[in-house]
Amino acid sequence: MKLDPLQYRDEVLPTDVALVRRIVESSGFFSTAEVEVAVELVEARLSQGTRSGYSFVFADAGGQTVGYSCYGPIACTECSFDLYWIAVEAQWRGLGLGRELLSHTERRVKALGGRRVYVETSSRRQYLPTRAFYLGCGYHEEAILKDFYSPGDDKVIYIRALDMMPKIDGALPRSISDARSRARDCHDAQLPRL
Ligand SMILES: CC(C)(COP(=O)(O)OP(=O)(O)OC[C@H]1O[C@@H](n2cnc3c(N)ncnc32)[C@H](O)[C@@H]1OP(=O)(O)O)[C@@H](O)C(=O)NCCC(=O)NCCS
Repeated sequence: MKLDPLQYRDEVLPTDVALVRRIVESSGFFSTAEVEVAVELVEARLSQGTRSGYSFVFADAGGQTVGYSCYGPIACTECSFDLYWIAVEAQWRGLGLGRELLSHTERRVKALGGRRVYVETSSRRQYLPTRAFYLGCGYHEEAILKDFYSPGDDKVIYIRALDMMPKIDGALPRSISDARSRARDCHDAQLPRL
């Protein structure tokens, strides 16, 4: 299937409630309760705005929305973000759209000062393609919480440390705190990335 160039939209509209339901249901992955959670995040954003802590990216191609992501800062952390949801409508999967959407979402996170993106999923066989997707997009497996969802169904946590290497411009640090901040950036940039 030929894909028109993607256009991204951050603004959340009331029509996105039905749209998110349609995209998430199309996956055939999620239980009714999980679909309701996905929809509730959109409703929270619509009613509470940025205070909800949920931001969205919608990917439009050829005049229709074909995928979306939902992300937000993790409370009580300095620069860690959660990727709560990413989904591409079933008929558009496997065309590179998810990778592009994730990459765009990471750029948004970076613009907001984020340095690490966390995402979690189930260890069940059904989620093998989802886990392959995260690994294929530069995430690495950080932790496994045994039997988290149910006996035999672990929670797998992936992370991507966004590249925050400061520009090397040869300029001397302007202050001790500037020097410390540069050192911290360099240290963080060495965190494992795939
Ligand atoms: C996961 C999902 C968002 C990926 O989007 P996508 O557009 O299908 O993925 P892409 O075509 O961009 O694939 C990017 C990379 O992921 C990996 N990948 C994607 N689908 C895969 C599959 N079924 N099996 C193995 N690897 C896969 C590959 O490395 C691929 O790169 P490549 O094509 O160069 O080999 C999409 O399949 C989806 O909506 N799935 C159902 C919902 C879901 O599981 N969401 C995540 C949990 S909230």
